Amino acid sequence: MNPPDKYSRTAIALHWLTAALIMAGVVLIWLVDYVPDEQVRRVIDTHKSIGITVLGLAICRLAWRYTHRPPALPSTYARWEHRASGLAHGLLYALLFLLPLSGWLHDSAWKDAGTHPMEIFGLFNWPRIGWVMSLEPGLKESLHTALGMVHTACGYGLYVLLTLHVLAVVKHQWIDHEPELKRMLP
Ligand code: HEM
Repeated sequence: MNPPDKYSRTAIALHWLTAALIMAGVVLIWLVDYVPDEQVRRVIDTHKSIGITVLGLAICRLAWRYTHRPPALPSTYARWEHRASGLAHGLLYALLFLLPLSGWLHDSAWKDAGTHPMEIFGLFNWPRIGWVMSLEPGLKESLHTALGMVHTACGYGLYVLLTLHVLAVVKHQWIDHEPELKRMLP
């Protein structure tokens, strides 16, 4: 049994694994403009593999969240903080799905998807989304552009929410002197 003021070990593992993979995937995309040309495909392919892994973890996290009640927020937190944390966590969950799904759709609408099969970490093939690949080329190109913009917008949303998330932890842990981090540490 985990203490009532702490997340379960599985929830903690899923949280930090997802966080580490998201950071790695984002850093790779930031680096893509600075790596030699012959490395670009490898960097983007690793980004895609990480993103699909995050999608798998997001499904596990949501399933765990629905079957295991998270610890209640401390009663010392203000009402607006309860509301803000519920909203921020809900939006973060939404992005955990929207980012990989928009990336996967964007990649499936890529004109060269047919000749460049997608592999997960070079280990096995990962399917593209068939109905997107079979669209008429002009429509597919427009969809590719639009989904790229959705993916980018979700990325910016993630930067904003992650910053707020970290600032909230800093406030509770070091300004209000609440044992905030302990809730999400083994
Ligand atoms: C948690 C998962 C993911 C996160 C956080 C993420 C984040 C990002 C970010 C921030 C960008 C840069 C957007 C820009 O500034 O224009 C990007 C680009 C991109 N992402 Fe993702 N992504 C994820 C998953 C995926 C997946 C699953 C795929 C494909 C299967 C994918 C394919 C791409 C592609 C093709 C690009 C454009 C790369 C380029 O040509 O420069 N992403 N992603």
